[in-house]
Amino acid sequence: MPPSRRNTVRDFARLKRVGQAITMITAYDAAMAKLADRAGIDSILVGDSYGNVSLGFDSTIPVTMDDMVRATAAVVRGSDTPLVVADMPFMSYQTSLADALRNAARIMQEGRAQAVKLEGGIRSRHIIEAIVNADIPVMGHVGFTPQSLHAFGGYRVQGRGEDQKRVIQDAKAVEEAGAFSIVLELLPNDLAAIITSELDIPTIGIGAGPFCSGQVQVLHDILGIDPDFAPRHAKQYANLAATVTAALSQYAAEVRNRSFPTE
Ligand code: KIV
Repeated sequence: MPPSRRNTVRDFARLKRVGQAITMITAYDAAMAKLADRAGIDSILVGDSYGNVSLGFDSTIPVTMDDMVRATAAVVRGSDTPLVVADMPFMSYQTSLADALRNAARIMQEGRAQAVKLEGGIRSRHIIEAIVNADIPVMGHVGFTPQSLHAFGGYRVQGRGEDQKRVIQDAKAVEEAGAFSIVLELLPNDLAAIITSELDIPTIGIGAGPFCSGQVQVLHDILGIDPDFAPRHAKQYANLAATVTAALSQYAAEVRNRSFPTE
C-alpha cells in the first residue's frame, strides 16, 4: 500500500498555529465523502447526526456503534485526504472505561477513522484520558451536546451568564485530558472567543460564531437537503431539495410519457 496522504491531527495543530481556519463537514457515506475531499475540506466528521439526517430519527440517541462503524468505513473508502473523525454514539463510552476503549477501537479498526469524538467536559475527562493513553486521538465536544438533549430540555444555547464559567472549565478539562481539538456547539460568540484564546488546541465551532479556530457544519444543513429544516446557524450554499425534487419529477414524468428511455 502507498503511504496515506491523509491530513493528520498534526495538520489541525499546524493550521491553528499559522492562523488558517480549519474546515470540517459531516458526511455519512462514500459518495458525499468523495465530494468533500474534492472540495478540499480539511476534515470529515462522521457525526452521530447521521441519526437525524440520514436514518430519520428525531435525535442522535438511537444511533448505535454498528451504525457508526458502517458509516465511518464508507466515508474512509470514499475519501483520500481529509482527516476522518467519527463520533462515539450515546452510551458507547459512558458505561465503563473498558466499553469506551473497546468501542473506540472498533471505530479505528473496523471504521478505519483517524480519531474519535465524544461529548462532555469535566465528567468525560477520565474517558478521554484513557482513550488518548491508548494512542487514539480524541476530539472533545462541549457546550450544547446533542446526546444530552433530554437533560438540557431541548436545543438551547449554553454558557450564558453564570453558566459561562462551567463551559470554560469543561473546555479546559478536555484539553488537559489530552484531546487534540474540541467542538464548541451553540455558544455565545464572545464565550467561544475566550475559550479559543485560552486553549492551545484548535476549537471547531458550530453555532458558536466566527472566532473559533475552524468551523464544522452538518452537510445536509448547508446543502439544503431537508426542505423542512434549516437551523439558524447554518448557511445554505445550495438548495438540493429543489434540485433533486425537480430532477426526480422530470424523470418520473419522462418515464410516464415514455420519452425516457429512448431507443
Ligand atoms: O454529530 C454531529 O454532526 C456533530 C456536530 C454537530 C458537531 O456532533
